[in-house]
Amino acid sequence: MSTVRVVVTGATGQVAYALLPRIAAGEMFGPDVEIDLRLADIPPVIEKAKGVVMELEDGAYPLLSRVTASSDRSESHRDADWVLLVGSVPRGPGMERGDLIRRNGPIFVDEGKAIAQYGSKNVRAVVIGNPCNTNCLIARHSAGDAVPADRWSALTRLDQNRATALVASKAHARTTAVKHLAIWGNHSATLYPDFTNATIDGKPADQVVERAWLETEFIPAVQQRGAAVIAARGASSAFSAAQAIVDHVKSLVNRTMDDGWFSAAVVSDGSYGVARGIVSSFPLRSKGDGGYEIVQGVRLEGFAKARIDATIAELEKERDIVKDLLG
Ligand code: LMR
Repeated sequence: MSTVRVVVTGATGQVAYALLPRIAAGEMFGPDVEIDLRLADIPPVIEKAKGVVMELEDGAYPLLSRVTASSDRSESHRDADWVLLVGSVPRGPGMERGDLIRRNGPIFVDEGKAIAQYGSKNVRAVVIGNPCNTNCLIARHSAGDAVPADRWSALTRLDQNRATALVASKAHARTTAVKHLAIWGNHSATLYPDFTNATIDGKPADQVVERAWLETEFIPAVQQRGAAVIAARGASSAFSAAQAIVDHVKSLVNRTMDDGWFSAAVVSDGSYGVARGIVSSFPLRSKGDGGYEIVQGVRLEGFAKARIDATIAELEKERDIVKDLLG
């Protein structure tokens, strides 16, 4: 059996609390891969992480070969294969994710350095802490050439899952009936869930539900869903985020079958005119080894193009705000 070394930062937070047992249970890497799980967090809370380690031990998970907690990245990140960057200050009610940009940016400078210095030669990093696209850009630059561009990604799967559930419910269909519903751009209030290429039970989505609803209700509902959860719960999404993180990594480590797509934010290679180097969400297909390709040839009409331009413009603005952190 092979072993995968997985770091989860922000290990004492709510997202990690929902995520860690699922990784330990084998939901992310499958039934044939043992897990060496490293919980990472900042020194003031690392004692709490030891309680989480005890709970993980008490689960007697058959695939969990080792579980440790440390606030020292030279321990937690050593030879890591996957680093799931959950740790950051979350937004509160009334804030946009972008409001966190200067606050959380420096964390990702340090993370990038540590991933380059200590990670395994195949290390892959997933950024979840917000604003996740730009935090990913920061960490990637900070890591430099030691960690190639295609090893970095940021989470927009939560948006894809939200969009899928919403449109399925409107169509009285199962979530599995929805295909090719890609998220483009930023994980923010400008994200674009592209219903124009989506299908429900094989039919174009806008022939199953009204186009007017898709344009005027569906898009803003997906864009504002994170804020709606915060307003209702007084805290940001936790187990739906954990579900999305499991889905994200699972999609990357399993080859995409048939004509499937999934969404994640990755370093743009200039596809679809998205500025090279920006971390933007695209429709992807996985090679099954953590690598992916951006789906090419997706037809984007004027409506879709205008929305993608808007979310990319926001990402370029965020990039400019953190210019000094990009080395
Ligand atoms: C979410 O989308 O729920 C998370 O990114 C948390 C947030 O700030 O919205």
